[in-house]
Amino acid sequence: MPRNGKFMRISEIIRALRGAAADELSAQNLYAEIIDCLKESGYKDEKGVINRLEEIMHDEEMHLGNLLYIVSQIDGSIAVNMEKGAEGD
Ligand SMILES: [Fe+2]
Repeated sequence: MPRNGKFMRISEIIRALRGAAADELSAQNLYAEIIDCLKESGYKDEKGVINRLEEIMHDEEMHLGNLLYIVSQIDGSIAVNMEKGAEGD
């Protein structure tokens, strides 16, 4: 089903994917903060809560990588710039 009953243009899809990538980064930061707070609070992690949060954080890293891959496949200019950035250009 298209979003809001309308198909998105490619530029809108790329913008949505960029937003989704940013959300993945925000989620990682949130989980890292929660983990830090739990550790700082002296929370007794008898049920593996912190380990689960760390696993979720790693999953978010995978999601971010997948989203960046997808964006780079749809928009060739982003792929070129990402490659330049990765090479330190
Ligand atoms: Fe995610």
